[in-house]
Amino acid sequence: MDISFRLNGEHVVLTDVAPTATTLDWLRDTRGLTATKEGCNEGDCGACTVMVTDPDGTTQALNACILFLPQLDGRALRTVEGITGPDNALHPVQQAMVDHHGSQCGFCTPGFVASMAVAHLNGATDHDTALAGNLCRCTGYAPIIRAAKAAESAPVPEWMNADRRFFLAEVSAAGSSNQGFDVGGGNPPAALQPRTLDELATAYADNPDATLVAGATDVGLWVTKQMRELGQMIFLNRCDDLKQIEQEADGLTIGAGVTIARLIPLMEEMHPSFAAMLRRYGSAQVRAASTIGGNIANGSPIGDGPPALIALGATLHLRQGKDRRSMPLEDFFLDYGKQDRRRGEFVESITLPRQPDRLRCYKLSKRFDQDISALCGCFNITVADGRVTAARIAYGGMAGTPKRAAHVEAALLGHPWTDATVAKAMQAFSRDYTPLSDMRASAAYRLQTAANMLHRYFLEDTGQSTSIMEVQP
Ligand SMILES: Cc1cc2nc3c(=O)[nH]c(=O)nc-3n(C[C@H](O)[C@H](O)[C@H](O)COP(=O)(O)OP(=O)(O)OC[C@H]3O[C@@H](n4cnc5c(N)ncnc54)[C@H](O)[C@@H]3O)c2cc1C
Ligand code: FES
Ligand code: FES
Repeated sequence: MDISFRLNGEHVVLTDVAPTATTLDWLRDTRGLTATKEGCNEGDCGACTVMVTDPDGTTQALNACILFLPQLDGRALRTVEGITGPDNALHPVQQAMVDHHGSQCGFCTPGFVASMAVAHLNGATDHDTALAGNLCRCTGYAPIIRAAKAAESAPVPEWMNADRRFFLAEVSAAGSSNQGFDVGGGNPPAALQPRTLDELATAYADNPDATLVAGATDVGLWVTKQMRELGQMIFLNRCDDLKQIEQEADGLTIGAGVTIARLIPLMEEMHPSFAAMLRRYGSAQVRAASTIGGNIANGSPIGDGPPALIALGATLHLRQGKDRRSMPLEDFFLDYGKQDRRRGEFVESITLPRQPDRLRCYKLSKRFDQDISALCGCFNITVADGRVTAARIAYGGMAGTPKRAAHVEAALLGHPWTDATVAKAMQAFSRDYTPLSDMRASAAYRLQTAANMLHRYFLEDTGQSTSIMEVQP
């Protein structure tokens, strides 16, 4: 497979790339760029963080350990060696790390510097959010945050703007060496990288056993942790049709290839509680890679996207060759590990109906940041004249699939929106769910906290706000 991208300002063309080669291994083993470190090799620690600029000029931090080389095609990559300027001039965030003693053993430092340089370039000043995906085991975070703050007002160094200019001027026209989508060697090709929806539909219909790769925040781990042979692969990252967002009068259609990072500003306008929950989805690096299509298609019972989307009444659009079909999102999840998806069929998009914002999303996890949910409850309850007129409630982490709370909804519908109704509805949770005990939570804890979330929704809705950030007597 042939790919082309920009590395620290240099145009690189690679031929016969193994589709599952990771950017981290290539940087360290082939290019000798060993500043980028390997810690967990599963997207959790941020030691491998690199800067990646897209053809539209968007620059984000990504974890190189779960970034397959084909995902770099047509993009610009900057490692910490390229964040340092010509003649070894320090970037302002590097200088600030020195000045504020932000590094001790130094293992985590290149990853931190890459995340900090991305935030600096983008003018982002919420450093807790930008750095939640970078772990440091010896310095402690206060000096690092002080360094990030100190660098805020420094101008972006000239060399850091080069990738954006490169893209605007050159790459959109001729940035990639891949002219068609059949880019793998061999017959059938080892890897395909379709550019349009029609190409993707044809490629997958013709090769239904291929592994689709979107952001690789799941698939990457199949390789780095499970050592799985993935066989033929179809990369979705160059399929721009899949990344479209269409605002219509009655709804919003979001392409399966839209990342969680892009979804957040959309939801800030429409459903701010969903946006606040997505802000706790993985880390900046994970949100920049993972797609909403991948989050749905993997069928995980603990994915954060599906409960909120089900509560909003989302419609899922699937495509197989030329055939398209749509269904309510909740009908897609049949059983644990089983979805209503045919061979060669892929998730094309989802549609959210436009509606007054009544959504609240509550994610419960052991850590606030960068943690998978123990459970996640999403509520969309409409009240008119003091009575519940509509209720959609969905949970992750309570069953083998993301699942609606049908009995709880029924216990609310048509009843007065009062403490007594809510207390009665809370008893219905055990009829909807038989959760498991696992390392994240016991079954009893899940049932109790799921019911408490409904109470929280009621309290917040009736002006008795609670803060999960404060311990209250
Ligand atoms: C460190 C870390 C933290 C995480 N934190 C969270 C979290 O807080 N909340 C959460 O919900 N998840 C979390 N995840 C899980 C992961 O980010 C999601 O499941 C993610 O949305 C998957 O999307 P992706 O684009 O990376 O999919 P990929 O890994 O590329 O693919 C996932 C699966 O979906 C299939 N697929 C992808 N796109 C399509 C499509 N369009 N049609 C059909 N099939 C498709 C793939 O073949 C594969 O089976 C985390 C993962 C990591 C590594
Ligand atoms: S090595 Fe830990 S996130 Fe990549
Ligand atoms: S300085 Fe040692 S892990 Fe951060």
